[in-house]
Amino acid sequence: MKNAIETKSLTKVFNKFTAVNSLDLEIPNNTIFGMLGPNGAGKTTTIKMLTCLIQPTSGQAIVGGYDVQKNPDEVRNLLGMVPQQVSLYKDLTVMENSQLCADYYGVPQDERDSRIEDLMELVDIKYAKDKRVGQLSGGQKQKASLVASLVHRPDILFLDEPTIGLDPTTKRTLWDLIRELNDNGHTIILCSHDMYEVDMLCDNVGIINTGNLVAYDTPQGLKDSLLESNKQEMTEALSQISEENEVSTSTKEDIENLSLKKMSILLNNQTDDIIDSIKKSSDIKSIEIAHNGRINLRVDGFDDMAVQNVINDIISAGGIIKSISTEEPSLEDVFIKATSEVNEDDRA
Ligand SMILES: Nc1ncnc2c1ncn2[C@@H]1O[C@H](COP(=O)(O)OP(=O)(O)OP(=O)(O)O)[C@@H](O)[C@H]1O
Ligand SMILES: [Mg+2]
Repeated sequence: MKNAIETKSLTKVFNKFTAVNSLDLEIPNNTIFGMLGPNGAGKTTTIKMLTCLIQPTSGQAIVGGYDVQKNPDEVRNLLGMVPQQVSLYKDLTVMENSQLCADYYGVPQDERDSRIEDLMELVDIKYAKDKRVGQLSGGQKQKASLVASLVHRPDILFLDEPTIGLDPTTKRTLWDLIRELNDNGHTIILCSHDMYEVDMLCDNVGIINTGNLVAYDTPQGLKDSLLESNKQEMTEALSQISEENEVSTSTKEDIENLSLKKMSILLNNQTDDIIDSIKKSSDIKSIEIAHNGRINLRVDGFDDMAVQNVINDIISAGGIIKSISTEEPSLEDVFIKATSEVNEDDRA
């Protein structure tokens, strides 16, 4: 079995509203998959079908080799779930909730409490183990929910916006934990609106919009294809300009911006002479010295050698580079582009 999850034409219709529309998705074993999409896109609905919480209207979903409709018990046994809305018993303590989960999944009694305590220590919630869940803060509830969902060491772990409300330190602990689980062979499905989190953690990313899968690739692959589509748009716009001839300055700027990459450089030894020589570099399309001394440049974003050439020119001019950064398309740019074409009728 190559894939932890495979769906074919998976569809969920609520009354007459299609929340998930004929989704074909493959998530390879032992990978971290990021599910992105605007509010109401159908992410949680998809996860609920994959975790047997709701029945698909049509189509098929295979999780860990089992069909969610034919073998829901087998599917439930191999998955763990941290839901978007924490679903622990409010009147039970953190410890009791985790014990209940462990017993449900048949965790051996002699290992149960030590496993729970190890997990509590890992996410730093042991100090509240005897508190009732109803009395916990938002982030503490999230941690308690994580412990309960991990105690049976699930092969496939679903995390629906798990780091919302967590403080920066705990967020990083959870990222480490996700990586560690993945290193130990677990498959992780992560829904998140945190682009940095997804970019950093995930092997593959799927973007869902109004119930449809609109993009699926590695984070870098998505960014590369955004550059490629910018390039195409620019070529098309340029060919239109040559046909029409009359184009406003702002349109020209928009087109130019599509093709330029930003660079920002700080020198240890900035002098007018050095700046004058840098300005002569043929790879620089625009240059501006910011009030904090940084040299902000724009170079041809589609020329693989442009950044290298600019650095060489600066060094030849005698510049000593203290820091340098270039701005690449981010996963957020990809998200905005992939989800910008929304048919308002589909959202009702
Ligand atoms: N039980 C339900 N009955 C009717 N409509 C529902 C139900 N559950 C979800 N929906 C609708 O399905 C659509 C998808 O909802 P879903 O919760 O899957 O979105 P999501 O992608 O998880 O969004 P978010 O990022 O806000 O969590 C929404 O328009 C929602 O109103
Ligand atoms: Mg959701």
